[in-house]
Amino acid sequence: MKDSPDGISTEQLNVTLTSLGLRDQANFPIGASLHQNRIKNNADYRSLVASEFNSLTPETCMKMKNIHPSSSVYFWEDTDTLVAFAQANNMRVHGHTLVWHKLIPDWVINFQGDSIAWELLFKNHIKTVVTRYKGKIGSWDVVNEAMEDNGSLRNSIWLQKLGPGYIARAFQYAHEADSSALLFYNDYGYEYSVTKRNAIISLVNGLVNDGVPVDGIGMQTHINYTLSDAAVGTAITRLAETGLKIHISELDIALNPSSDPNMTADSTILNLQANKYKFIAQSYRQIPVSQQFGITVWGVSDAHSWIRSTYNRPDWPLLFDDAYERKPSYYGFLEGLTD
Ligand code: XIL
Repeated sequence: MKDSPDGISTEQLNVTLTSLGLRDQANFPIGASLHQNRIKNNADYRSLVASEFNSLTPETCMKMKNIHPSSSVYFWEDTDTLVAFAQANNMRVHGHTLVWHKLIPDWVINFQGDSIAWELLFKNHIKTVVTRYKGKIGSWDVVNEAMEDNGSLRNSIWLQKLGPGYIARAFQYAHEADSSALLFYNDYGYEYSVTKRNAIISLVNGLVNDGVPVDGIGMQTHINYTLSDAAVGTAITRLAETGLKIHISELDIALNPSSDPNMTADSTILNLQANKYKFIAQSYRQIPVSQQFGITVWGVSDAHSWIRSTYNRPDWPLLFDDAYERKPSYYGFLEGLTD
């Protein structure tokens, strides 16, 4: 067994290397979306997450339906669990999300107020949530998925009740509540719709030019392994040209886009996935360091990926398999982060 120059045996080095997590080897934060129940109930999940990631995004508990279930009631417990876990493990928390067209509570959908009352409802939600986590949550997806693929504003309840200015006002309210927090516009499809991408870039540039406090853009990056390197590489480059912080915010790479119920993941396709994770990490490292807010994967184990539950199909989009073992994708991602 050949000793390395500084006397550490290769075996020791491997043990050291394999025990090092992604968080120890990347030049920017590496995050994962987490579910509070697994943090509460699963020690293996806790230790794996704490060793691999230094950023967490609450996967569901901060969405309006979950955190603000009735007009006078906020449910903080699940978010508090994740924030406490993050603080105990030297992880940052990225708040997700204040304004979204999905997971809207019934009391909002059935709200009968006038435009002033709607504005108050909107403002109070944003300011109440941001104020509670001031100093604990340093960044937010203020507005999520407000753009249609055809480049028009999504016809959400917020657009209907508050008009197109709701996006700018959401950022202003969040900033008023915590002027030190970094504020992001988050969306998907930058890599497959140039129309959508350009519409979002001009929306965000317009907000910044109007003095609206937008600090960054979130690129969800829910992609299939068949997507070309050029498509995702170009999207990252174009977004970085805004000069804003760029967050690859919800990365997963699906292997079964045609929803084949009998599909299995063989080594060939798992290696193609690994190459795609590697390419994305390498592309991301090309953007200016000051804009590298980080890369967050949307889940930990394939077993709990939203892709399986939402699309009701077998799929393996993440870095860890159903047994929390590192997949080829993990090593591809690591190579892309470090080579
Ligand atoms: C998904 C979660 O992963 C699911 O558990 C939940 O049921 C629905 O939302 N874009 C987003 C994320 O911004 O918040 C979504 O997360 C996935 C798509």
